[in-house]
Amino acid sequence: MCGIVGFVGKKDASPILIEGLSKLEYRGYDSAGVAIIDNDHINVMKCKGRLKNLQKKLSGHPLKGIVGIGHTRWATHGKPSDLNAHPHNSQDGIISVVHNGIIENYSQLREWLISKGYKFVSETDTEVIPQLVNYFYNGDLVEAVMKAVSKLRGSYALGVICSKEPGKLVAVRKDSPLIVGLGEGEYYIASDIPAILNHTREIYLLNNNEFVVITESGVKLLSDDGSEVKKDIYHVTWNANAAEKGGFEHFMMKEIHEQPKAIKDTMTSRIMMDKPITLDDIKITKDEIKNIDKIYIVACGTAYHAGIVGKYVIEKLVGMPVEVDIASEFRYREPIINERTLMIIISQSGETADTLAALRESKARGARVIAITNVVGSSVSREADDVLYTWAGPEIAVASTKAYVTQLIAIYIIALFFAQNKNTISKEEIDEIKRELLRLPIKAEEVLGNKEAIHEFAAKIFKEEDLFFLGRGLDYAVALEGSLKLKEISYIHSEAYAGGELKHGPIALIEDGTVVIAGATQEKLVEKMISNIKEVTTRGAKVLALTSEGNNEIEETVDSVIYLPKVMDILAPVVSVIPLQLLAYYISIQKGCDVDKPRNLAKSVTVE
Ligand code: F6R
Repeated sequence: MCGIVGFVGKKDASPILIEGLSKLEYRGYDSAGVAIIDNDHINVMKCKGRLKNLQKKLSGHPLKGIVGIGHTRWATHGKPSDLNAHPHNSQDGIISVVHNGIIENYSQLREWLISKGYKFVSETDTEVIPQLVNYFYNGDLVEAVMKAVSKLRGSYALGVICSKEPGKLVAVRKDSPLIVGLGEGEYYIASDIPAILNHTREIYLLNNNEFVVITESGVKLLSDDGSEVKKDIYHVTWNANAAEKGGFEHFMMKEIHEQPKAIKDTMTSRIMMDKPITLDDIKITKDEIKNIDKIYIVACGTAYHAGIVGKYVIEKLVGMPVEVDIASEFRYREPIINERTLMIIISQSGETADTLAALRESKARGARVIAITNVVGSSVSREADDVLYTWAGPEIAVASTKAYVTQLIAIYIIALFFAQNKNTISKEEIDEIKRELLRLPIKAEEVLGNKEAIHEFAAKIFKEEDLFFLGRGLDYAVALEGSLKLKEISYIHSEAYAGGELKHGPIALIEDGTVVIAGATQEKLVEKMISNIKEVTTRGAKVLALTSEGNNEIEETVDSVIYLPKVMDILAPVVSVIPLQLLAYYISIQKGCDVDKPRNLAKSVTVE
């Protein structure tokens, strides 16, 4: 949902801002722009479309200066266009602003500013910010930004520069991420760590309502009452290579291949055969666990699909009722939660606005919150009572892959931790699950080794316009994820159904040649699934089945089969999702789509 960067130093700001934006394009790519101070003047260059358009423009008219801000946009208020692109300036051009978030009261502010004589040129909510800063500006940029921000409702990470204070950059955040990078006499702001990793690994993680004032002599952090804030420097342990493509053509393919390692890293030091499940990062006590009588899992998109797997797994291993909900629905109904409820919040980015709101809502109602997130220092990680990090490493492709499988691993770990503490299953059963979990990285490698079979299947079906994904039990949960992957990166319409549900309506859509992808990994359900497959083949469907090695009887019923290495039923989603990720990837490539940056999407959804 938009990425912002800023730089104050001794070198030319322009290439540094552009490089930072290139690492943030996953957050939005409807337009891009930079504003740079040249002596006592702010020069802005911005345009619709990908960053490369801006680079082209800049190569003809380079901007000079050592202090600047930059933006890559995912459009909310106002269509993608040159005028709506950020940075936005005050009407006299002395203040320039980049913004990630949404200003909810922008129309009132806009009317009020118009009544004071201000003129607007864009359709954005953001343009009120430079105008407001300008309204309050009286020779002190920090004071003006503080006053302006006190009038804003909504979410924002802002970078602000002023031509009358040419060596200064002021930034602030509320409910949108922002970090500060500390180099040698050079300082950065950015929406996410990869944007600055080529320059420094020393950063400040900002809290809500904290302001940053950067000049060439250093960085000052202020709270909203103007008092100075002291903060520890966070050292980023991963390096810039982790956020590069590493020889793969696309981030998505690289991230699909990183899954065995990500699974292993997420289990390391938590699952060991000779020790109980150890969760250093979760402080919940045995007594607190005893007190819990219901679990809620809340998330969005792919993370929600991981939550559906969580329901099956936790109910089976812990014997406790689990509800799963989409965060944007959860927050606007009256969920029955109290101090006996455990909330599990799942979010790769840890910044998804609806998920964060659900977290806050559940805390306000007294629930204990465990967060599963991939981003250290993210809002979700900071606001939850306990955090279980997925060690997937940076996920850059918009379509989530390695984050999903590590979210599954985190769920297995939490389920085992609860089962161990509540004695709901025997030690032998726990050991058996642990043993199987530890084998998953190798099994995931095996699936990747068979990717050519998926490639060939993709070549046969990439021209389809509608596809069905079917499954029962955990295969249904994976079908939902497979269908989402296909839709988002190949733009093919698809539906995921529980195998037994199809005959209650949607089977009317099956006709000669309809392609159906059927998951059949769950031992107890394979026969039932074969019956459901027959229901569609009888009506002319072409079926690709994903099943475990040994289930050869399925071959008689379907057109093609992909065999998956045998794993325990509850762990099957970790291996069965991989062919579906690959299928979506190969279809997207064959159709010539932009795999890593699908249309209309952004990686981190920090607006409602
Ligand atoms: C799909 C995808 C999205 C995210 C969703 C939640 O591939 O990536 O559906 O899963 O936007 O994002 P996080 O996990 O960051 O809260």
